[in-house]
Amino acid sequence: MAKPIHIDAPKGKLGILTPGMGAVATTFFAGVHAIRKDLAQPIGSLTQMGHIRLGKRTDNRNPLIKDLVPLASLDDVVFGGWDPISDNAYEAAMHAGVLTEKDLAPHKKELSALKPMPAVFDKDWVKKLENTDNVKKGKSKAELAEALRDDIRTFKRDNKCNRVVMVWCASTEAYRDLSASHLSVKAFEAGLKKNDPQISPSQIYAYAALMEGVPYANGAPNLSVDVPAMVELAREKRVPICGKDFKTGQTLMKTVLAPGFKARLLGLSGWFSTNILGNRDGEVLDDPESFKSKEVSKLSVLETILQAEAYPTLYKDLFHKVRINYYPPRGDNKESWDNIDIFGWMGYPMQIKLNFLCRDSILAAPIVLDLALFIDLAGRAGKRGIQEWLSFYFKSPQVAEGLYPEHDLFIQQTKLKNTLRHWAGEELITHLGSEYYEG
Ligand SMILES: NC(=O)c1ccc[n+]([C@@H]2O[C@H](COP(=O)([O-])OP(=O)(O)OC[C@H]3O[C@@H](n4cnc5c(N)ncnc54)[C@H](O)[C@@H]3O)[C@@H](O)[C@H]2O)c1
Repeated sequence: MAKPIHIDAPKGKLGILTPGMGAVATTFFAGVHAIRKDLAQPIGSLTQMGHIRLGKRTDNRNPLIKDLVPLASLDDVVFGGWDPISDNAYEAAMHAGVLTEKDLAPHKKELSALKPMPAVFDKDWVKKLENTDNVKKGKSKAELAEALRDDIRTFKRDNKCNRVVMVWCASTEAYRDLSASHLSVKAFEAGLKKNDPQISPSQIYAYAALMEGVPYANGAPNLSVDVPAMVELAREKRVPICGKDFKTGQTLMKTVLAPGFKARLLGLSGWFSTNILGNRDGEVLDDPESFKSKEVSKLSVLETILQAEAYPTLYKDLFHKVRINYYPPRGDNKESWDNIDIFGWMGYPMQIKLNFLCRDSILAAPIVLDLALFIDLAGRAGKRGIQEWLSFYFKSPQVAEGLYPEHDLFIQQTKLKNTLRHWAGEELITHLGSEYYEG
């Protein structure tokens, strides 16, 4: 048997900081309080409910993941965050309208006490946001980064945290390409000092986190920790990073279905995806620049799964379109429609219609929890830089330069579980299974 790697025990409290205290973050906070009080089950969370098979099928070893690796306990987590809107977490949760007043009431005291720290915010990057009065002022971006670092240290001290992690749950920023300031830590620091307009708020948070040794996960599709400067800084400071864009609703379904079509060599001629969405995220995405970030993230999934270059007959002519329509009456209860045109034997066409009436933040909240606990685990295991094994949670998984991301949900799951087996000194599972048969 392999040797387990050394992982520090999860002593003391773990602070979970979220830039952004909107629908996703407040649904996550409230849910964790409810689970702690035994008012809810951690449905959708692999760290809390997931099992992992160990050894041979005949061994019957299938412990909970949290019994295999030393994860922080939910009783030891403390929350904090930043938001340019000054609502406390209770008010923000009421505004988001994901959870009912009845489900929020038992945690009103804790959530009301959770007030956002003033944010590093710039309207140029998120246009469609109103009432943004809780914003830091600074002469330069370097000063703003310092202020965030100070917030992290103060939060850690005031809440007596042993460790802190950060999960970006703030609005999707406008799409921009890499610029010179993103290419190295040195260039980035110079860019901060000279207020380079190409440096976004989310990148300033990421920089502050890494400088403070805080593992960082990016839940939105914009560039933040996936630029060369941050990858370099994460390695230098020995901090785990991962991203990006939580894989929930429609894309989750895509990464379940598309690998199935490819496995059976069924062709695809078209995949039209449309959504109606009425929450603040939907409003922000109504701005073409923010939507562009989302579109890039949503479109790349099929391309990589289908490998049209290897299967030109099946996928070369695929027409893939994604639309998001802001439609206030639905609030957080998004509805998506997918029309999938497939073809089979002798080219005969078939259609699949998928209509998913989902709840965005209900799907995203357990992802925030798992990411926070897993990046904390990675930090205690001495891992640094990109954590590709957490691809399972993202629409656009961050991977090492030169690699294509793995989008197939089941390969991602195998990668995640094999990583945990490896860390725990257990045999990797290959599914070969020849030992059960003669010859
Ligand atoms: N819910 C899902 O299924 C899902 C899936 C993938 C990605 N996401 C992404 O997660 C993020 C959060 O989604 P949501 O539904 O909670 O949105 P939301 O609009 O309810 O909350 C986002 C919050 O971020 C705040 N914010 C904006 N800029 C900020 C900054 N610079 N610093 C700190 N706070 C800032 C906003 O004021 C708002 O309160 C979005 O980027 C969304 O695209 C969500």
